[in-house]
Amino acid sequence: MIMVGLVKSLKCTRHVKLLFSATTQTNRQIHRCLSSSCRPHDSVRTFISENTETAGEHSLTPELKLRLFTPNCRFWRERPELWPFDDPYWAIYWPGGQALSRFLLDNPEVCQDKKVLDVGSGCGASAIVAKLCGAAHVVANDIDPVAAIATHMNCELNGVEPPICVTNNMIGSEPERFDLILLGDMFYDEALATSLHGWLDRCIKTHGTRVLVGDPGRAQFEGHDIRRLLHQQAQFELPESVREENYGLTFSCVWSYSPEL
Ligand SMILES: C[S@@+](CC[C@H](N)C(=O)[O-])C[C@H]1O[C@@H](n2cnc3c(N)ncnc32)[C@H](O)[C@@H]1O
Repeated sequence: MIMVGLVKSLKCTRHVKLLFSATTQTNRQIHRCLSSSCRPHDSVRTFISENTETAGEHSLTPELKLRLFTPNCRFWRERPELWPFDDPYWAIYWPGGQALSRFLLDNPEVCQDKKVLDVGSGCGASAIVAKLCGAAHVVANDIDPVAAIATHMNCELNGVEPPICVTNNMIGSEPERFDLILLGDMFYDEALATSLHGWLDRCIKTHGTRVLVGDPGRAQFEGHDIRRLLHQQAQFELPESVREENYGLTFSCVWSYSPEL
């Protein structure tokens, strides 16, 4: 039921928050541990290993291995309230992130020697791809600390040095010098899209940062003001299993953002 709930939550964003009874206490502990040298997230790693499967072969980037929810996992159907952390968006490889990662793998020069920030990195796929494509420096930013641990595990699966994982909210913060910002499936909520819009303008204005967005045509994205300032770079047909999991979505696109500044 978690899987169904998460996918539906991106279609109906009023339910994005608190689909599950999150134990923020646990998350605070993970935040503390990520920012220290201790290794107490071993128990979280074990939990992730026991409750996900190595998958990804049916995605747009079959060359990547990722620990994800699959129908064989307990929480695919389990009651959401039994899940002990925040909503596990990192356990799904979202269609927007898939398109973005496919585009980068097909065009490695986009990342090569670049300083790359993946905002809302989830399972870490796009950050991992940036590494594989020869980025000079990669930061994976997700406000869910469990996503950071999953990203480390996914790096190990793909033989890649982990990126720097940042778990504080960077959206709205003072823009840092990045050559490229990646946003996979981050326009699923109107308020989030609006704060991203303003912050991306500042990043581009301050540092000339390039911005790439992956989105499967979600209503919140298509209806947002930012949409008319985006230029399509690529379109990918979604594999059958991804379509089935994402009710009604059939393709996913990569857009570059060029604001009128
Ligand atoms: C729909 S998932 C996309 C994950 C990944 N980019 C992909 O395409 O597979 C959205 C992710 O954004 C993260 N997120 C939500 N708000 C955020 C914020 N303000 N800053 C960073 N990450 C955020 C969530 O925790 C979640 O992992």
